[in-house]
Order: sequence, then C-alpha cells, then structure tokens
Amino acid sequence: MTAIELYEKLKTIQPGSVLCNYSMEACESMIPLIHEINELKKEKNAVVFAHSYVSPEITMSVADFVGDSFKLSRDATKVEADLIVFAAVRFMGETAKILNPNKRVLIPGSMTGCSLADSINADDMKALKAKYPEHTFVCYINTTAEVKAYCDVCVTSSNVIQVIKSIPNDKIVFVPDYLMGENIKADLKKQGIQKELVLFDGVCYVHEQYDHEMIRFFREQNPNLQVISHPECNPGVAMLSDYVGSTSQMVEYIQKESPQNPFLVLTECGLNAKLQAELPNHTFIGSCSMCKYMKSNSLTGILNTLRNPDQADEVIIQEDTRVKALKSIEAMFQYAKT
Ligand code: 13P
Ligand code: SF4
Repeated sequence: MTAIELYEKLKTIQPGSVLCNYSMEACESMIPLIHEINELKKEKNAVVFAHSYVSPEITMSVADFVGDSFKLSRDATKVEADLIVFAAVRFMGETAKILNPNKRVLIPGSMTGCSLADSINADDMKALKAKYPEHTFVCYINTTAEVKAYCDVCVTSSNVIQVIKSIPNDKIVFVPDYLMGENIKADLKKQGIQKELVLFDGVCYVHEQYDHEMIRFFREQNPNLQVISHPECNPGVAMLSDYVGSTSQMVEYIQKESPQNPFLVLTECGLNAKLQAELPNHTFIGSCSMCKYMKSNSLTGILNTLRNPDQADEVIIQEDTRVKALKSIEAMFQYAKT
C-alpha cells in the first residue's frame, strides 16, 4: 500500500479528535509500520482481527477480519494461522482463544478492559446462580471467559432478541448490561412475548451518555435526520431511533438507505469514521464518543506484538473454564441458526 492509496481511503473522515488525523503527511508516516506488520504477518503465520471501533488505519490496512462481536467470533472459528493478534478488547480476544485453544491469541492494546465485562465477576455469578436456580443464564458476549463459564447461552447485540425468544425457559437472568436488558424487555413486550428477565447493573460508559434530549435537539436542526443507535443505549434513545442494531447491522442498514438524509449514529466514533470513509456521499452528524479501551489499539502496538510475540500480552484461559465458556458460545451459534 502507498501513502496516496491510504490517504484516498481515509481522507473523507472528519476529525472528531486528535486521533483522527488523516493528512497526507500522517498517512506517509503510517506506511512503514503497515508494510512491516504485513511482512511479519506472513513470516509468523499471523492474522489480525479488528473490531469496527478501532482506528480506521488499522481496519483498512492490516486487519484480516473486521466486524462486530458476532462476526468476529464466527470468523474465529475459521482461522488457520498460528497466531491471532486481536485488536479490540480482552473479552473479544478471549472469545477467539475459547474457540482456538491451540493457537496463540495476543492483545496489542494497552487498555484491554470494557466497562461491561469489568462490571461482573465469578462471585457475582455464584450469588446469582444460588438466588435463581430455575432460571436460564444468558450472558452478553461483553463478559470474561470466567463469567461465560457460569452461563447457558451467550448473545451478541446482533442476535440477543432472536436467542432469548428461542430459549424454551420463560425465566431468564441476563448479565451484565442493564440498559440492553431494558431494551430486550421493551422489545419482547412489543412482540407480545412474556418472559421474566432478571437484570444485573452493568453499563457501557460510552453508550450510557446518549439521551433522548440529544436526539430531540439534533432532530430540531435536521428534520429529516435518521437516528441509528446501538442496543447498549438506554430505552429512551432506542425508542426515538429509526433503527437499533449491532455495529455491523448499523452499517448494513445505512448502506441501503439513500444518502439524501443525514444520519446521527449513536455509538463509538470508530464506526462513524468507518462510515465516513466507506460512504463518502452520506452525511453523518454528531459528536465523537470514544471507547478508551478500543482506541488503545494502534499500529505501533500491533507491530510490537508481532515483533516480540513472547513479550506480548497473551490470552491464557484455564482449560475447565474454557470448556464451560465454549458451551455458552456454541449454544449461541445453535440458537442464532434457528
Ligand atoms: P457489537 O457486537 O455491536 O460489535 O458491539 C460490541 C461493543 O462492545 C459495543 O460497545
Ligand atoms: Fe465495552 Fe463500551 Fe467499549 Fe464496547 S464501547 S468495548 S461495551 S466499554
């Protein structure tokens, strides 16, 4: 890849922060890193996974697999390489390791948490299991392997309603995203489905900041505005949105819509940058809300990981935990098919 080719891909991204500087000079400075990463991938039989929230110079130049949590977990079942470098957050790398126990999964980011995954641990799960012995335990994929190991089924934002609807038990504990849980309840009610949903109190610190007043304000300025939001936002936001879906579902929805009306995309701004780059004729308004964890991934971090895999942050999961967590992920694949 040349600097001009990279610049052509990134030039329509509007700087929302200092992290989005895609001048020709900035692109020129990235090219040596990109070349070395791509060479090392071949040399070490490695692949790079990247969530859509990481900076677009990663998704557009060195990533082999890009997408939402569900797509990345499906992609992780097809890997043939020996080494997986997972540019996202730790729980996503753990999912890849759960599915690929014989491969090394390395995390290049410097802050690998997630406010949802960090909100709940094994002790919380033990307490919930003791309190709700009759319930089916459903965990959002934004959880650690340890928490998944206590659950019957895992879900992602792209299949949560479909999976919960298909579970034969009407008593469900859903962890850890409280706001997503409230959205599920509203959705099931709208569809006339009766299920008792016990919720935990985790929230995503990026998505919880959006509110319905913000949507009203932007709609006053732009009467034809299309509002697209992620199910980690609160139900007031979901209710006023034209479409609610996972990051990949949002992209698919917008791709099909006419570029005539502006879009307000309420999710981490890496997705806005991706949309601005890939759909240059569409208009995207709104602010930049960054996930510090996702944005702690960089070309330099990926390069250092590939240069020194033995010094890198490697995902290690105890085998009994992995096997139990795998069951919840396989159950998701099963339910998502039906
Ligand atoms: P997606 O499954 O939509 O990619 O969401 C993951 C996430 O962390 C959203 O904050
Ligand atoms: Fe976690 Fe929120 Fe960041 Fe997604 S955006 S990885 S839910 S902190």
